[in-house]
Amino acid sequence: MQVGIDQIGLFTPDKYVDMVDLANARKQDPNKFLVGIGQREMSVADITQDAVSMGINATLKFIDKIDKNKVGLLIFGTESSIDQSKSASLFVKTALKLKPEVRTFEVKEACFGLTAALMMARDFVRVHPEQTAIVIGSDIARYGVNTAGEVTQGAGSVAMLIKADPSILALNNGHSAYSEDINDFWRPNYSRTALVDGKYSTQVYLDFFKKTYTDYKKQKGLKTSDFDAITYHLPFTKMGMKANNIAIEGQDQATMIKLERSFAAAKQLSSRVGNIYTASLYMSLLSLLENGELPAGSLIGLFSYGSGAMAEFYSGKLVEGYEKQIDPTADQAMLDRRKKLTVKQYEDVFNTALLDPEDGLELTSDDEVGTWYFAGTKDHIRQYRVKE
Ligand code: CAA
Repeated sequence: MQVGIDQIGLFTPDKYVDMVDLANARKQDPNKFLVGIGQREMSVADITQDAVSMGINATLKFIDKIDKNKVGLLIFGTESSIDQSKSASLFVKTALKLKPEVRTFEVKEACFGLTAALMMARDFVRVHPEQTAIVIGSDIARYGVNTAGEVTQGAGSVAMLIKADPSILALNNGHSAYSEDINDFWRPNYSRTALVDGKYSTQVYLDFFKKTYTDYKKQKGLKTSDFDAITYHLPFTKMGMKANNIAIEGQDQATMIKLERSFAAAKQLSSRVGNIYTASLYMSLLSLLENGELPAGSLIGLFSYGSGAMAEFYSGKLVEGYEKQIDPTADQAMLDRRKKLTVKQYEDVFNTALLDPEDGLELTSDDEVGTWYFAGTKDHIRQYRVKE
């Protein structure tokens, strides 16, 4: 029996900053951000969007297409948690009207959280093939205004339905995992923004890629030329390009061209949305599906990395008819609906969102009708509403 990704939905908030504007404001050469970092735009979450609301909005992209009664597991991966105790997934479960018998919780290991959720969901469905699982990754990447990491921020969520006989990607058996207790990126409980040793994190990311990719190929008897595409966790697109360059080094011309082309397709959404931590790898997968023109049966490698640090390489095969399950036009329209902010507006929106609204204050959303949003706290309980 094959188990894998049956549905995939992306959400990003309704505001963005252009990287050329940001470079000019920070007195940097725009090409450093556009080429050196590889980012064109960056989504900005105002105070009415958080991990929960974005996760609901991502799942709404496919919820009407699935049998909700079959969902036995709902896992939420995030490093932008909204509560130290209660899982974000419970708010989502209520909004989506899932049955009370669903097993639901939140997981954390930096950007690895959604992969952790996906692997648990895969094993759950293998044991309970008549049931399905929803996994959500949802994050706001915040390094702070005028920091080195500022250009690698972003906001968004990816939700996926994991199912037997999936319609998009059948996951292959086996994986290669690697972890070490290191301090490349972390966010202490007292801070809303991340602390990062950017150069070190880049070095560890590439080192873990080499280890897991080499081990995976050996384990499965695969060569680089066997892959039709490799997708990467993309904190910024240049990071994935560096890993892809390692993968194709010394390969024949056809393999190099094939994996460069597929990487170009896989980075498109990330270059406009920015870093969405847990969901970045899966936004890259979606971007590949929407722009890569890959035939069914294509072998796709997936490299997941979470600072701290934990990495995993695994693979899947594209299922016949996968194109019918995705909607590139709708995703483009979602990006195009975003309002462009000036750098000053972005700074104000960003800094306001770092603060908790006064308890009892009702927040309103300026996003489209039908979008879920955080409406403030009432008696210190977070309220989520749908825009009418
Ligand atoms: N034209 C073209 N390229 C230019 C340029 C120009 N005018 N000026 C500079 N560049 C290039 C540089 O040569 C450099 O390229 P290489 O990386 O290939 O050498 C690139 O632009 C970046 O330049 P710098 O290294 O000088 O940039 P920086 O000091 O401002 O730092 C950064 C960049 C380390 C990515 C920083 O933005 C950062 O710390 N970001 C956050 C950390 C991060 O995302 N780490 C990634 C892995 S960790 C992870 O994945 C965890 C997670 O998501 C949470």
